[in-house]
Amino acid sequence: MGLFLLLIFSYLVGAIPTGIIMTKITGGEDLRTVGSGNIGATNVYRTAGRKMGLVTLAGDSLKGIIPALIALVSGFQGAELGMVGLMALLGHCYPAYINFKGGKGVATAFGVFLVISPGSILLALSLFLVVLGRWRYISLASISAAAALPYLVLLVEQQMMLFFVTFCMAALVIYRHKENIERLLAKKENKFSL
Ligand code: G3P
Repeated sequence: MGLFLLLIFSYLVGAIPTGIIMTKITGGEDLRTVGSGNIGATNVYRTAGRKMGLVTLAGDSLKGIIPALIALVSGFQGAELGMVGLMALLGHCYPAYINFKGGKGVATAFGVFLVISPGSILLALSLFLVVLGRWRYISLASISAAAALPYLVLLVEQQMMLFFVTFCMAALVIYRHKENIERLLAKKENKFSL
């Protein structure tokens, strides 16, 4: 597949609203009207239970894994690989199927980097778990991991162009957490509990 087609494919896969589909199938409430209003795995977990949350987490991660894997086996490298990941992330955050009102991109970005830079995503995941364990806010853990990821990618992959694409992706993920940041500052953010 050529790069242009792959970028479009990646967006279309990323735009599939896993959480909305899962909760609809099981007759749950519309995610956009409950909990944080987000369509991601955290809100599914919060409002529809652990099992559905994990299924959504897996589905949203696959939306990053599949396009990135196709790009990798097609021979794309560096910034081109990153661009394919960025399109999956844009699909998740701004999905055409549901009026461009999507999620925050954490699980999809995780899937992308699991393929294109497993070393850096495992370091970012470690940071995520440390922050989550200490403060119990998924949003704070996600923001911390996103902020660190571009520098981890640079450290592990040593590719400047991939760093720039990762930086854009991280900025988008953090921007999508703007309401969480407001709640964190106001000490009104939901704490995570098992
Ligand atoms: O990945 C999203 C997470 O960081 C926050 O989700 O539902 O608490 O806004 P939520």
